[in-house]
Amino acid sequence: MLDFTNKVVIVTGSARGIGRSLAEEFARCGAKIVITDLDQAMCEQVAREISPNAIGVKANVTAGADIDALMQATLDAFGRIDVVVNNAGITRDTLMIRMDEKDWDMVLDINLKGAFLVTKAAARIMMKQRSGRIVNISSIVGLSGNAGQANYSASKAGLIGLTKSSAKELCSRGITVNAVAPGFIETEMTHTLPEAVRKSFLERVLVSRPGTPKDVASAVLFLASDEAAYITGQVLAVDGGLTV
Ligand code: NAI
Repeated sequence: MLDFTNKVVIVTGSARGIGRSLAEEFARCGAKIVITDLDQAMCEQVAREISPNAIGVKANVTAGADIDALMQATLDAFGRIDVVVNNAGITRDTLMIRMDEKDWDMVLDINLKGAFLVTKAAARIMMKQRSGRIVNISSIVGLSGNAGQANYSASKAGLIGLTKSSAKELCSRGITVNAVAPGFIETEMTHTLPEAVRKSFLERVLVSRPGTPKDVASAVLFLASDEAAYITGQVLAVDGGLTV
């Protein structure tokens, strides 16, 4: 088992789904966890359920003031920041010719600009520590594109560019930045997909089952661990072979 004893970990969008599972796995491996999402009461409840070493802090990743407050609350509670996982994300799917500008902006703002703002704020603290791990949750559609997801695919492709650029800027300060690109993972986000879309994804998964949040967590924890010190700027697909 990977050891995160005394490591301080922030996972954005961790009130449910993949983010919550990440937080649970980090806690199981000894980390101090910051649960952060859009609703304060929910963040606090999840923190209570997960670990005595967890706190809940509401933060909208698109709001600079919320992010500053999140960093400060983390330092006040735990004194440092070792790992940040940029997990918060949304979909607003429709064919590009029908896509509203506001749905484009909203998805790019939360999925991409949110990760930029959180990375920038956390990197300032990690640079002083001269150590840190940042893991961005991209998607295989950021590599391949997907009909009906022009906004989402662009945001997830953008995250890969952000990952590689920030890896180059931050490596000399002991900070690695990597991305995980999940395939089809069973969460509330994928429950809303039409049956035909689910079927077409699952037919192409070599491992013959949908992924679970825990499958994603295994990859993220590895990239966030001391054992991954020589890996930076990489994108690891966690997709059961869907993109092979
Ligand atoms: P989910 O919808 O279950 O959870 C997303 C969480 O992000 C929610 O708790 C939500 O409240 C939070 N969130 C949304 N907007 C936010 C904001 N502005 N600030 C802070 N938090 C916000 O989604 P799921 O499936 O757990 O996805 C997590 C990440 O994994 C997302 O980035 C998603 O794009 C990515 N992903 C998911 C896949 C899947 O098959 N479920 C596949 C590939 C990537």
